[in-house]
Amino acid sequence: MKNTVSTFKKVKENKQKITMLTAYDYSTARLFDDAGVDSILVGDSLGNVILGYEDTLSVTMEDMIHHGAAVARGVKNALVIVDMPFMSYQTSVYDAVYNAGRIMKEGRAGAVKLEGGACVCPQIKAITECGIPVVGHLGLTPQSVNAFGGHKVQGRDDKSAKRLIDDARKVEEAGAFAVVLECVPAKLAETITKELSIPTIGIGAGRGCDGQVLVYQDMLGMFSDYTPKFVKQFANVGEIIKEAVKSYINEVADGVFPDEEHSY
Ligand code: KIV
Repeated sequence: MKNTVSTFKKVKENKQKITMLTAYDYSTARLFDDAGVDSILVGDSLGNVILGYEDTLSVTMEDMIHHGAAVARGVKNALVIVDMPFMSYQTSVYDAVYNAGRIMKEGRAGAVKLEGGACVCPQIKAITECGIPVVGHLGLTPQSVNAFGGHKVQGRDDKSAKRLIDDARKVEEAGAFAVVLECVPAKLAETITKELSIPTIGIGAGRGCDGQVLVYQDMLGMFSDYTPKFVKQFANVGEIIKEAVKSYINEVADGVFPDEEHSY
């Protein structure tokens, strides 16, 4: 069954859990959709895990549209959410609406995601008023890595915890239908989850959230540049790929492949 913003609402009301994974291409999206994941996030983490940048800042609208459309073509049921890249919405409400519209029209997304709290609420309000569903993103928002001075857990002290709760309320009021909480202490994420009527999707935010999201290269052991504490590796696909590639190299070198069976 096709998942929509209504599915997210129902899942929270029924106290079930939402599952979300990143994907950036057609064939991976098809696999995850077939496996039954509720939602696929075309995250701007594609800057790190696909394009090899050290952060997400260089990711462009064209990158997000290109990969978003590929994922959308591979998905039947999961809700496809596409990230708005750095400086595609912070600059003005006009830019935010224009670029969210492009992501929906050209990237064939089901929703967009953008980072930030009170300061981007005018953008969230304007985008949702155009009929485009928005997911918020609070806590460690990677597009602000330079302002944070690195990848640090957010909301550890009372003042910043209060600000996060306040931002979460404002993002909901502005019209977001869900909010990602990244690198937030589990207790604080649980408090925010109870405060909001929209679902929270955690990444490094404990099990009290309404759902979870992971970058697939992390959970499948396919990215070793760095591994945050919150990542659980569910399989070591990286090793399986390396072993398969070594077998291929050896069989070609030894003249074993292609054999009769794989020849015309
Ligand atoms: O870009 C991304 O993959 C994300 C997740 C880490 C939530 O925003």
